[in-house]
Amino acid sequence: MSKLSANEQMEAYSEAVSSGLYAKKSGLVGKYDNVRRYWEDENTRQFLRPYLAGLIERCTSQMRRLRIMDLGCGSADGFELLSGVRQRDPDLVQVEVDLLSPKILGLYKGIDLSEDLLGQAREIYGRNPKMMFEKADFTEGLPVADKEPPYDLYFTSFGTASHHNEDETLVRLLADIAEHTQDYCTIVCDWLGRYSYEWQSLWTDDLSENRNMDYIVSYIYEKEEREARREELQHLYLRLMSRQEVGEVVTEASKRAGVEIKPLVFFDRSIFTGRHMDTAEYNPHAQAIRKAVNSLHEANERTDFSSILVNYVPKQGFDLLNHYFEHLQMCWNTLIQFTEELLDIYDSENSDFASEPPPIPASYPPALRDMMDRMLLVVRDVGWLGIGRPRENIIEPQLGYALRYLVTNLQRGQGCAHGLVGIFEVDKTKK
Ligand SMILES: C[S@@+](CC[C@H](N)C(=O)[O-])C[C@H]1O[C@@H](n2cnc3c(N)ncnc32)[C@H](O)[C@@H]1O
Repeated sequence: MSKLSANEQMEAYSEAVSSGLYAKKSGLVGKYDNVRRYWEDENTRQFLRPYLAGLIERCTSQMRRLRIMDLGCGSADGFELLSGVRQRDPDLVQVEVDLLSPKILGLYKGIDLSEDLLGQAREIYGRNPKMMFEKADFTEGLPVADKEPPYDLYFTSFGTASHHNEDETLVRLLADIAEHTQDYCTIVCDWLGRYSYEWQSLWTDDLSENRNMDYIVSYIYEKEEREARREELQHLYLRLMSRQEVGEVVTEASKRAGVEIKPLVFFDRSIFTGRHMDTAEYNPHAQAIRKAVNSLHEANERTDFSSILVNYVPKQGFDLLNHYFEHLQMCWNTLIQFTEELLDIYDSENSDFASEPPPIPASYPPALRDMMDRMLLVVRDVGWLGIGRPRENIIEPQLGYALRYLVTNLQRGQGCAHGLVGIFEVDKTKK
């Protein structure tokens, strides 16, 4: 290779900078903060895993590859999400743990209305011959050409299904998918939850009210900048969905297609950790819990445990919801306070607890008891490490995972969180 001039060498640096890969990354803020990566992406993957595994098994048994359509793909974050779904509990020596290997992928087709985002997606993935991106509007039905073969997975992520501001457009899209299916497909719909604590001011018993919210994209800035830029903030008009409302839409779409679109699972994602907890834009009592959980997962960053404690403020007239959130809040806070007590009684010199750890009452919910047991083992067994900041780098991330486990086990898939995700199947092989 001939010698490069100094200018040519500098171009390599410029390219690296413009790619964004040279920027200092922090998981404390931004679109890809720690909660996004370690909670939201992982939670979604966990629920998707058995269904994606089932689809892959089905394709493999038919000697063909998997076809995916991502509706509202943006810059194709959904592909990254799907590619990160791993086998369940791989053992410690395994190296290949991804479910969606390049060998099994047939086609990932992303469609979106935004040319800019499609441009970004093409920049990142355009050279992969198994990936393509097209401009289309999913509120006008399923964007497929004549004779275009059906897909195995119709996917949406991170609130994209809430861009259907009218039931009718979603009914039509789902019915189109069901009709276009030859044998079998899986559909993933991702909405904003109607009863997230973040927007408690919008809660209503009358489901004909507050169907779409004025969603302000204000969380990308810290408080002061957010206020300074208030006039220029982007607003989205987004549908709020409860499980009941989803059921009505899906029943209608099934009727129209003449084939059942069967719900398989629903889950609530980000109950106390949605992005608008930190902005308190729609609930004056919301606390910056996401910021605190981000800190739990950040390397070398010590977190003040009092900043993660939730103080749920009830809304009059919503007894069932209040009861649910209060129960969850008490479990959440109990786990944090228990961990703090363990740290308080840990004796570094003797590498053991200086006194008996607090008891774990048998009356507590199993998920809470399991996580208290886990934190006890973590603190006791790594407390001695000393070097490498065991509190910041081991104990706090483990508390983060334990809190995630707790909310995952106590969620009910009813629309009580930032995201409500539903996974459905259309199975024409069963008569
Ligand atoms: C919340 S973003 C999610 C993007 C991406 N799926 C992700 O998980 O990061 C919603 C996406 O849906 C796209 N979108 C909104 N309305 C649409 C429509 N009617 N047809 C196609 N795409 C649409 C937006 O441009 C945006 O990329």
